[in-house]
Amino acid sequence: MHDPAALTALEKKHLWHPFTAMADWCAPGHEPVMLVEGNGCVLRDSTGREYLDGNSSIWTNIHGHGHPVITGAIEEQLRKVAHTSFLGLSHPLAAELATELVGLFEAGESKLQRVFFSDNGSTAVECAVRMALQYWAQNGRPERVELAAFEGAYHGDTLGAVSLGGIAAFRGVSERVGYPVRRLARIEDLEGLEATTLAAVVIEPLIQGAAGMRLWPKGLLRALSDWCQKHDVFLILDEVMTGFGRTGTMFACQQEDVVPDFIALAKGLTGGYMPLAATLTSERVFEGFLGRPEDGRTFYYGHSYTANALGCAAALGSLRVFREEQVLLHLPAKIARLASELKRFDALPWVAETRQCGLIAGIDLVAQKEPKKAFEPGQLMGAAVCAAARDLGLLTRPVLDTLVLMPPLVATENEITQMADALFNAVTMVCGVSPPACF
Ligand SMILES: Cc1ncc(COP(=O)(O)O)c(C=O)c1O
Repeated sequence: MHDPAALTALEKKHLWHPFTAMADWCAPGHEPVMLVEGNGCVLRDSTGREYLDGNSSIWTNIHGHGHPVITGAIEEQLRKVAHTSFLGLSHPLAAELATELVGLFEAGESKLQRVFFSDNGSTAVECAVRMALQYWAQNGRPERVELAAFEGAYHGDTLGAVSLGGIAAFRGVSERVGYPVRRLARIEDLEGLEATTLAAVVIEPLIQGAAGMRLWPKGLLRALSDWCQKHDVFLILDEVMTGFGRTGTMFACQQEDVVPDFIALAKGLTGGYMPLAATLTSERVFEGFLGRPEDGRTFYYGHSYTANALGCAAALGSLRVFREEQVLLHLPAKIARLASELKRFDALPWVAETRQCGLIAGIDLVAQKEPKKAFEPGQLMGAAVCAAARDLGLLTRPVLDTLVLMPPLVATENEITQMADALFNAVTMVCGVSPPACF
């Protein structure tokens, strides 16, 4: 049995958490939740308390925790070998997974035929950008050195990926050393944009996650794709958050019949079990890298854990669950349940707007609805509501004052309602009074 007090002391002594103000985290009053077990949508902490996983463990989990097919697939592979180099060697699961991933796009005239594995969402995007830039450099268009990305975008934290991002707080030092990026706010900004020096446009399709679950207008993705094709600029889709059923279809781009030149996949790729990512691209791009080693066309990029066998086993397990449990067919009823739950939030005096895309919901908190008045930033109201929700048995994390509800796809309609109940009660409890800032 874990000793919660001793663990808390050790964790505060030695750990440094991502995106976390560590002085507050380490303050004596703060008790971190230590998760030790999971089953379906339920997570259990070191004290035995149970919580619903209201943000799919940071947008990764698809079929719930402890799914026997995925755990079984990982265990089976673990008994054979956990990891082998993908540099100069290969393994069966990588080939099987690449084939299945490509097959997910084959319904249309998919260009996506090549799969490059890496470890996380940032590297999946980074890889697409590096491929795009190198492709043009060695295929007759060396002037194509710039990228275009959107305001509010989030594409990860490696130096290249973060420089594409449109959230200033996250860009930090990359402001000075990242990629040259032209920033777009809306589709109209493409008019007058000089295309000849652009290598690629990068976008989170249908919805921007870290910007606070902001929906793109319907048709924007299609229009962007048309523009890219017209100007022969690569389209890179970052489906790190939206991939694998999250928006109601297997991939968000399928809702606007768009097939990009690159697609970045991570998070839900393994069902949320293992860190694995994939960048899919076309034969056109792939062929642009062929040649003798001395020609210098090789793609010199990769990581030690590329195509990790346990990750590939988990991903194949997850895709098997999609097929066997007909996960996509069950989504419309769950999405409808989430929509009906959001209606009662709309009625609250502290909710300016709710937004939904598939099983993703954003709820904007405000101090006053009419005229609209935000909470003071120091009040950290989104964090305070999520702390109260945690005490009511729901784990989720806000984006500033936007609450996020993103149940695993396996969540039942009843569980979605339970999650909404906890969040709703947390909002009403917290927003009426001004709580101290907390996690
Ligand atoms: C759209 C998008 N792209 C990229 C990333 C980065 O993924 P990772 O955290 O796995 O590097 C994220 C993470 O939230 C994301 O939402």
